[in-house]
Amino acid sequence: MTTLLRGGRVIDATGTRDADVLIDDGRIVAVGTGLDGDTVLDAGGCIVAPGLVDLHSHLRQPGREEAETVETGSRCAALGGFTAVVAMPNTTPAIDSAAVVREVQELGEKALCAVHPAGAITVGRAGERLSPMAELAELGVRLFTDDGSGVQDNQLMRRAMEYAVGLPQPVVLAQHCEDAALCGGGHMHEGAWSARLGIAGQPAEAEELMVTRDLALARLTGARVHLQHLSTAGSVEQVRAAKVAGVRVTAEATTHHFTLTDAACAGYDPVFKVNPPLRTGADVHAVRTGLADGTLDAIATDHAPHTQEDKEQAFDEASPGMLGLETALALALTELELPTEEILALLSWRPAAIAGLADSHGGPIAEGRPANLCVIDPTATWTVDPAASASRSRNTPYAGRALTGRVRHTIYRGEPVVIDAEAQR
Ligand code: DOR
Repeated sequence: MTTLLRGGRVIDATGTRDADVLIDDGRIVAVGTGLDGDTVLDAGGCIVAPGLVDLHSHLRQPGREEAETVETGSRCAALGGFTAVVAMPNTTPAIDSAAVVREVQELGEKALCAVHPAGAITVGRAGERLSPMAELAELGVRLFTDDGSGVQDNQLMRRAMEYAVGLPQPVVLAQHCEDAALCGGGHMHEGAWSARLGIAGQPAEAEELMVTRDLALARLTGARVHLQHLSTAGSVEQVRAAKVAGVRVTAEATTHHFTLTDAACAGYDPVFKVNPPLRTGADVHAVRTGLADGTLDAIATDHAPHTQEDKEQAFDEASPGMLGLETALALALTELELPTEEILALLSWRPAAIAGLADSHGGPIAEGRPANLCVIDPTATWTVDPAASASRSRNTPYAGRALTGRVRHTIYRGEPVVIDAEAQR
């Protein structure tokens, strides 16, 4: 049984052309005009792109299945055009052992997109002892992070990097950059808004200090380092300088850090509570500039589902985090003044390369390639409705926001998992 994507504009890292795409048995078998197939999906007026890749999803399984599961999170991903996600290890238990890696991989086999568990850098993400990184890398883990918190101990982080350099597999050490002591228990960005609202803040420097430390350690060890969800102008500037100096660093920004500021916290609504926190307008501008000039390599979602019980608390008590998988592409298309090719680079082929997934995701749309694709209607308008989310959680900060650009179809391993913006399973 073949599937045909008919009449779209194909955009990948090699360029743009108008073509049909024919899929059979999980692969692209032809790209051209006038093709036919058993199942025909209309792509008229749409962009046919490599599937998107999220470097930063919290799928909550094992341990917090009431907030999300691998299955429900992967459905959000597919609806958002993602064909692969890297699942963060701050689960319960943490993804710090072969058993938990295998568990998430097995759950991922039934998912609506590829699910690649990230491994914890330290046992239990406790920041005290290194996890069995070699064993996890042997199972296919390519990205290590203690996300949810940063590795605080300088010496331990140095050892993790040295260890990573010695592994036979090409792995990347990713960091949630926050100096815990300097965060001082703050719940939002420290600045004029935190002062006005009387909410304890955390300064931009709490992030920037760890960026400085990790860039220094990357220089010292030669390790590949990836800086997660950078949110401040100072962080972006440091990465820019480090890249010029030849440090092996990549970095991501989340959709919320280029679309929302700390002013959103004015109503004390915890839906706007996130770590790192929403920053100032100047920081948002710097993040956008970093995405535009290549300082920031990827847009990540930091999809962080939380139950209503955990989120509907006083601001100080609520869990930090926001949904992101279903809205990321549309937010980027609506908010960033960048050519579509650049937005797709930030959401597909660059993150695919960082995660070591370039063989199967983000690659050229060409005969013989794996059929992991998304079809995007760039002119479709829609309004974000939390109740319509495929997530088990509802904590999107974009309720009611009008967006332009929508995923129409998603093809994963040759299977149409989303057709006309409806998940097929
Ligand atoms: O806001 C956040 N939520 N930041 C993180 O780093 C972790 C995440 C979560 O797991 O909820």
